[in-house]
Amino acid sequence: MNTSSQKHSVPSLTERTGGESVSLIDGKATAATIKAEIKEEVERIVAAGGKRPHLAAILVGHDGGSETYVNNKVRACEECGFRSTLLRFEDDLSEEALLSEVAKLNANADIDGFIVQLPLPRHIDEQKVIEAIDYRKDVDGFHPINVGRMAIGLPTFISATPKGILELLRRYGVETSGKKCVILGRSNIVGKPMSQLMMQKGVDATVTVCHSRSKTLKDECRAADIIIAAIGQPAFVTADMVKPGAVIIDVGTTRVKDDTRARGWRLQGDVDFQAVAPIASLITPVPGGVGPMTICMLMQNTLAAARHEYYD
Ligand code: GUN
Repeated sequence: MNTSSQKHSVPSLTERTGGESVSLIDGKATAATIKAEIKEEVERIVAAGGKRPHLAAILVGHDGGSETYVNNKVRACEECGFRSTLLRFEDDLSEEALLSEVAKLNANADIDGFIVQLPLPRHIDEQKVIEAIDYRKDVDGFHPINVGRMAIGLPTFISATPKGILELLRRYGVETSGKKCVILGRSNIVGKPMSQLMMQKGVDATVTVCHSRSKTLKDECRAADIIIAAIGQPAFVTADMVKPGAVIIDVGTTRVKDDTRARGWRLQGDVDFQAVAPIASLITPVPGGVGPMTICMLMQNTLAAARHEYYD
């Protein structure tokens, strides 16, 4: 199986927005297809006497978003036929104690890969924790060795959100070669790796990264064939910033107050969906776009770790 390079028929989905039909990139359905492919592969491995992949996650504290993400990751493991272990700690866990938990997972031969859910409490140095993870089990792709290998185009664990976006573009047949791609945001998890992946050979986009200090951000967006918004500001990308026919990828997931919902909030992307969708040729919804693909790519990375695809 090669879940990352095959082009599949993709679910077509349209939604009526202000009377106009728009084309959605359906991350939820695409992720379901890929998880089914992973499960098939896992059952083949197990039937042949191989080991069932095992992902562990460390969650420190009770951040609402992190709790949801980690629970979704555990559920995705079940869907893919993986074993999963969730290690939960209170937010007064010391850095030393967390590093000791990381060391235990590094040494545990039964664990193929693991993640430490971010953000961590402020008294813990995130970078120190990331660098303590054995790079061969770093299924988040955050360790400097994996970041460096990705940057120079070597096969390795790639950060799940940019990997998922690339997979969506590929499966939806979006032409990237020679196209102008504007990335909003320069985070280590999304913006930076996304820029490197979009410019790599075979993807071949011309990439511009904009951030909070960029002076020409709106003009850059207006000229873009593909906009990837990962700036963390709800509804930041407005209709006047989008060229007709552009492809819009929305990474934002901010919880905004919404009294019409029983829980009192909803997830809002970085794109003003209602206004932008009718102009775009393809757009990811929030939720149901990039989010499900991110978790699905973590599953792909875990399968790769279990098969020692990148490291012995
Ligand atoms: N917090 C937000 N996104 C991520 C992610 O992809 N991995 C981890 N470990 N923490 C996150």
